[in-house]
Amino acid sequence: MASTQPAHEIIIVPAVGEPGREELRQQCYDVRIDVFHREQGFPLDTEIDDFDETATHFLLRLTPSLTPIGTIRCVATRDYYKLTRLAVLKDYRQYRFGRALVQSLHDFVKADARARTPPGSRVADTAKVVSHSQIPVKGFYGKFGYEAEGEEFDEDGAPHQKMVIHLSLSD
Ligand SMILES: CC(C)(COP(=O)(O)OP(=O)(O)OC[C@H]1O[C@@H](n2cnc3c(N)ncnc32)[C@H](O)[C@@H]1OP(=O)(O)O)[C@@H](O)C(=O)NCCC(=O)NCCS
Repeated sequence: MASTQPAHEIIIVPAVGEPGREELRQQCYDVRIDVFHREQGFPLDTEIDDFDETATHFLLRLTPSLTPIGTIRCVATRDYYKLTRLAVLKDYRQYRFGRALVQSLHDFVKADARARTPPGSRVADTAKVVSHSQIPVKGFYGKFGYEAEGEEFDEDGAPHQKMVIHLSLSD
């Protein structure tokens, strides 16, 4: 049973060209570097990639201190959305923050998918989200309804599994 969740907020980092993006995006990077590089040993030089420039970044921070403790990133492609770089600092796990970050990304995806529908066209029934899950966290994604697709594969030197969900746009 998780203990009481500390007071927090999840913000969407301002879009490209808007004030505040660089500073807040750096705070997302700092969390990712702490978790993926320092804790998990993934290479530092591949942590920041080509998608970061235009991706939608979410920052989880404590309130009222505004201390960054988690992040997730959404990359939109023509046909689907990618959930990537989900990380919660070690001291703040099991408080349902990972769940809250995924939920925020899902809410964003649904709104974005609806907004992309050209006027007069029928809104698609679902939006597809893909995650490349590390093997120990497959069960975490499974709790949302993500399903494994294909074989395990190597990414940045560690085994991963493609996980897919089709979010309903009608609720
Ligand atoms: C994965 C991660 C984000 C989960 O964050 P968290 O805040 O501890 O997760 P939550 O407390 O929101 O957990 C939500 C649910 O998933 C479960 N869960 C958490 N981690 C899990 C795991 N590794 N495997 C299976 N279930 C898991 C929780 O028990 C909880 O279940 P419940 O809703 O039935 O009570 C966090 O462990 C993390 O940052 N890990 C290191 C980075 C990482 O591996 N990122 C994923 C890259 S693919």
